[in-house]
Amino acid sequence: MELVHKISEMQALASAWRAAGLSVGLVPTMGSLHEGHMSLVRKSAEENDRTVVSVFVNPIQFGANEDFDRYPRDLSRDLSLCGRAGADAVFNPSAAEMYPEGFCSRVEMSVLTENLCGKTRPAHFRGVCTVVLKLFLAALPDRAYFGQKDAQQLAVVRRMARDFNMRIEVVGAPIVREADGLAMSSRNAYLTAAERAAAPCLFRALSGGAELCRRGVVEARGIERRVREILSETPLARVDYVEVVDAETMRPLETVAGPALCAAAVYIGETRLIDNIALEARAGH
Ligand code: PAF
Repeated sequence: MELVHKISEMQALASAWRAAGLSVGLVPTMGSLHEGHMSLVRKSAEENDRTVVSVFVNPIQFGANEDFDRYPRDLSRDLSLCGRAGADAVFNPSAAEMYPEGFCSRVEMSVLTENLCGKTRPAHFRGVCTVVLKLFLAALPDRAYFGQKDAQQLAVVRRMARDFNMRIEVVGAPIVREADGLAMSSRNAYLTAAERAAAPCLFRALSGGAELCRRGVVEARGIERRVREILSETPLARVDYVEVVDAETMRPLETVAGPALCAAAVYIGETRLIDNIALEARAGH
């Protein structure tokens, strides 16, 4: 497995693969890899001749008071996990390599970024789209893999690929959960023992909302109310948002009639966790 730090070297490696007729899969990550990431790496290795994992903690997607400085970093562990999961290269650029002196371009997206995490983290998706575009142009993938835990990010990247006519298939993969339902996330490492014990309330609450919908409640406000009710039973949980949205556009819904998600962001102590669940309305509604 190769470790690549320079964009030009990543482009040369990916171009050589493509010239040899090999397909390339990219798994963009910020490192501190967990089983959720590894499921993406394995899927890419199954579906492509070559797999690149990018490991880059992207400064421009963090707000001023967010956790950029303390975001967990462990490159040597990440490298050994990637090797074992079948990656062919890890792309690990420095911030100066990605954003050299004078860098002043950004990718802007409206509509899909206007609620959920986009509301609480106003510059976040501008930073995500900009770095993902740069990673795409470095690794030249045929397919790129993203977890469904970050449902809004997945929808935003899909939209960007479509809007800019990129010849890249954006592949979403199921959320990987701990045994007690907590979605895997690098930020789970911030939780104290008491917070970790409380954190499964997020999936429990979303499951309660989804269950209500399965039983025939299609009004978004009713589903959201149920999720908030369950969350309120956990004193350590503070709601940022709970919202029923269209699965493709991320716009808030009044009623669940087609593909929809209930998405939530909750602070457990100081740590902000996100998760979501698909909603299936009972036939006939
Ligand atoms: O999901 C993440 O880890 C990041 O937002 C991504 C897609 C790697 C961009 O920095």
